[in-house]
Amino acid sequence: MRSLIDILDFTPEEINELIDTANDIIAYPDKYCDRCKRKKLATLFFEPSTRTRLSFEAAMMELGGNVLGFSEAQSSSSAKGESVADTAKTVSCYADIIAMRHPKEGAPLVAAMNASIPVINAGDGGHNHPTQTLTDLLTISREVGRLSDFTIGFCGDLKFGRTVHSLITALSRYAGIKVILISPEELKLPSYVRKDVLDKNAIPYVETSSLESVMGELDVLYMTRVQRERFFNEEDYLRLKDSYILTPEKLESAKERLCIMHPLPRVNEISTAIDSDPRAAYFRQVNYGKYIRMALILKLLSEAGRI
Ligand code: NCD
Repeated sequence: MRSLIDILDFTPEEINELIDTANDIIAYPDKYCDRCKRKKLATLFFEPSTRTRLSFEAAMMELGGNVLGFSEAQSSSSAKGESVADTAKTVSCYADIIAMRHPKEGAPLVAAMNASIPVINAGDGGHNHPTQTLTDLLTISREVGRLSDFTIGFCGDLKFGRTVHSLITALSRYAGIKVILISPEELKLPSYVRKDVLDKNAIPYVETSSLESVMGELDVLYMTRVQRERFFNEEDYLRLKDSYILTPEKLESAKERLCIMHPLPRVNEISTAIDSDPRAAYFRQVNYGKYIRMALILKLLSEAGRI
């Protein structure tokens, strides 16, 4: 059974096909409006979410399908001590496909090993978030016009930010990518991503704590929030939370065609004064997330022989 747990589960060719499908859905939505008629998506969210869960649900509805699920662990049997494996086996009896978010790294993989329907990892702890990465790749391809030959700066919480880990992993398979890692010392990219992804694939990268000093080099700026829920103490969070705040002044040295992304939610990292700047792509990015998830649901359901 094909699932999506890690972005490397799909080849670059398959990712290109998903992007092509998403672009086709954007251009001709009516063609797709009953492709998933009478099919059900289960959203099993053990952690808070706005965009990921609602975009999955909107995606399934726009494909003519239905959705069921829960949005907090407390309202599911996991509060009674049920294992992820048993939850996955149970939900396989009710739905055609699962999207799961969980605070424990690896939980969606355990679900996939026990489910008899496709499982999509909608974020596992500080580990991975492959559907945000598909969203990000669609965004870059539409906004920058290509998925190769650009410089991308990741700024903020690179330690706990799972969207950063997944996107860097995905980009390691494209040519001509330069990575600039901008973070305070305490929130640097984990060494397993640095060694296993950047070093292993010989991706050129630099680490800095100064956003201003690299702004002029960037084609894409990927801002992130400091991940409060993954900190061990509140004091460290309070000290680090406002490390970077993007303001119009800081953009003065930026390229005219810079693409500013953020997986959202934004807390303080981007001044709202930037929202009206044409380079601010983050709300367009939200919109692309629904279309790429439509393409993903179609792919996995059709490979499972369910549509
Ligand atoms: C991200 C996540 O959940 O990892 N949000 C999202 O899915 N768009 C980023 C975050 O929570 O900071």
